[in-house]
Amino acid sequence: MQQFPSEFKLMPEQASTMAGQVDALYFYLVGITLFFTVLIVSGIIFFAVKYRRRSPYEIPRPIAGSMKLETIWTLIPFLIAMSIFVWGAKVYFAQYRIPKDALDIYVVGKQWMWKMQHPTGQREINELHIPMGRKVRLTMTTEDVIHSFYIPDFRVKMDVVPGRYTQMWFDATKPGRYHLFCAEYCGMNHSKMGGTIVVMRPDEYQAWLSGNASQMSPAQLGEQHFQNLGCTTCHLNGGRDAGGRGPQLAGIFGKPVQLETGQTVIADENYLRESILNPGAKIVAGYSAIMPTYQGQVTEEQLLQLIAYIKSLTPQGGSGTAAASATSNSTSANTNAGAQSSGSPSGQRR
Ligand code: CUA
Repeated sequence: MQQFPSEFKLMPEQASTMAGQVDALYFYLVGITLFFTVLIVSGIIFFAVKYRRRSPYEIPRPIAGSMKLETIWTLIPFLIAMSIFVWGAKVYFAQYRIPKDALDIYVVGKQWMWKMQHPTGQREINELHIPMGRKVRLTMTTEDVIHSFYIPDFRVKMDVVPGRYTQMWFDATKPGRYHLFCAEYCGMNHSKMGGTIVVMRPDEYQAWLSGNASQMSPAQLGEQHFQNLGCTTCHLNGGRDAGGRGPQLAGIFGKPVQLETGQTVIADENYLRESILNPGAKIVAGYSAIMPTYQGQVTEEQLLQLIAYIKSLTPQGGSGTAAASATSNSTSANTNAGAQSSGSPSGQRR
């Protein structure tokens, strides 16, 4: 299905804007490790030889300690550790703050394939065509077990978790074909769950899009589901004031929503998902819990399309997605970056 590179490579190619940053930090860590390994091992050998026992009755000279030495070997490792922390945090935030001005691609993983949909409607399986030099944001979920979307040449990897959305982004810098892996053991054919990321020059990408353009966009498909599922009967424009039994959905994406409990949540992808599948979980202030669940009635892809439609009802629909990353990043460590990104930028827009 996929070709592996014929020659053995020590390092994956650097094919995204993040790759160089990740590698630089990595080599810094390797360099420090090597330096201290050599220093300590040669120290052990040198001292073992120099201070070896020369006669069976030898008694060493007593040592009283040295403030100067103590200070030096405390301060230098402290500074090195802090440099790793500061540099690491910088790269981390660059990686996990999801940019707002990105091409929105939806990914659904399942045993054992990757299904992708472009904002213009094109679908692909185990292959993703993207333009070079443009930020691409993936909003991902899975129909079954945990998978992990991993492109070594871009130095990006993100878990794809059932029941929620995770996001990642990259900006490819070189045209070419890059290996996509599933990096989370997901059953029998895990090792074959992969594919190819095809990075094209922008004009080639446009040509590719128009060559595959006969489909409806995720937002258009979402609008169809929205009507077929009868959402339109309750979610009227104007909400309660217009006689709607459910809140108005236009203009809410990425904005704070006041709940019955007095709490406020940001209407991001995960909030919308929860509100469709488990409507009782967060009731909007002023409305009653009458919406039925749509669990089991919509597939993961239809759910993403519904959300794409609701996003499209908010001008600059992508604007709330930075906030979305706060809840969509799965690992606990990631939550910090997400929370960070949801702070100021989305606040300013309101
Ligand atoms: Cu999917 Cu491993």
